[in-house]
This record gives sequence, structure tokens and C-alpha cells, in this order.
Amino acid sequence: MKQSDFMKYNKILIVDAVSRNDGFTKKLVEFFKSNINAENVVTFETYKEKFKFCDGCNFCEENERCKYKDLDLFMSEFETVDLIVFATPVYNGMVSAPMKALIERFQPYYSYFYKHQKTQKIEKRRSAIILASAGRDGETALEYIVTQYKYAFSVTNIEFIGSAFCNFTDTYPNLLKAENEIKDILERMDLQ
Ligand SMILES: Cc1cc2nc3c(=O)[nH]c(=O)nc-3n(C[C@H](O)[C@H](O)[C@H](O)COP(=O)(O)O)c2cc1C
Repeated sequence: MKQSDFMKYNKILIVDAVSRNDGFTKKLVEFFKSNINAENVVTFETYKEKFKFCDGCNFCEENERCKYKDLDLFMSEFETVDLIVFATPVYNGMVSAPMKALIERFQPYYSYFYKHQKTQKIEKRRSAIILASAGRDGETALEYIVTQYKYAFSVTNIEFIGSAFCNFTDTYPNLLKAENEIKDILERMDLQ
């Protein structure tokens, strides 16, 4: 690994929307963490953080920021890290509720993007990967989830790198497949 590649992903933010500590998504997060070579990993646990929902007030349209300040610290990490890992179980064919709520708080980035002729509010280009688990096949849900994220990534200056997906957790969990997907991603990113 070249030193330049190592430096490229020096700081990693894990956005954890996982409710079960002994569940499969957490296992993917732990597997990811134990296989990376990065100096600085911070985690934002959405189930523990009490943040406001976006209420569509359009304050951000006028003021280029949210009227709520409760996510300011998170947003400053989100805007400046090198890599963001979004971890969520599949609930009702989508991301879990706090993850959905967090994505909705990206509304200031959407409004800035369209107000300024598709200019990114966030200067730094970052990368993101998605870790997810589903009780059943979940492939359609995963496609839908990735599409949802790609909308968000398009206005938050993020390049989507890939996803690792543990499905059939209700019966025969495909954990090895998901771990191999993580390894593939890490190899591609030179993060191992
Ligand atoms: C509220 C809720 C909704 C769920 N919806 C789905 C679903 O739409 N599709 C699916 O395949 N599994 C669904 N599941 C099963 C979870 O995706 C599965 O248990 C997964 O392993 C949860 O992640 P975890 O192991 O990290 O907790 C649901 C589970 C819950 C609690």
C-alpha cells in the first residue's frame, strides 16, 4: 500500500443506524473495523442521538443552513472525513427509521445544490460504502436503498464505492458473502 493511499482515507465516519448490538449489521461494522488500516474512526450512533426530524420548513432554502443546531457537530464530521460508512438493517424494504430521519436532515445540501445551479455545498469530495442486513432475500430492498443513498450522495459530494449485504438472516445468514464483499471493497480502496 502506498502512503498516499493510506492518507487518502485517514478519517472514517461510521453512521450506525443499527438497533441490535448482537445483530448482523453490527457484525458487518465490526468486521469492517477490524479489517481496516485507518488512524481515526468515529461513530455516530443514530439510535442513541436524539435529533430533530426535518419538518420541511424551508428555512434552509433562505438561510443555507438548518434552523436546528443539534446536528452541527455531526455535519462538520460528515463534511470533512474521507470515508463514510452507512450501516443499516433493512426495515420494511428501506433503511431503518433513524437513518431515514438523518438523510432527511441533508435537506440544506439539496436546497443549496439546486439554488446554486447544481453546485456542491460541501467542498470536499468523500467516499461512501453501505453495509446492510435483511431477514429475507432483500435484493430489491438493497437496490432501492442504494438508489435512495445515491440521491443523497449526489448533493453531498460523495462518491459511492460499494455495498456489503448480509441477507437471509431469518434463516441461513449470508455473513460470509457479506464479509467477502467488505474485503473486496477494502481491497479496491487499498484500505486493508
Ligand atoms: C421493523 C422490521 C422490519 C423489517 N423489514 C424487513 C424487510 O422489509 N425485509 C427483510 O428482508 N427483512 C426485514 N426485517 C428483518 C431484518 O432486516 C433482519 O432481522 C436483519 O437481520 C436486521 O438487522 P440486524 O441483524 O442488524 O438487527 C425487518 C425487521 C424489523 C424489526
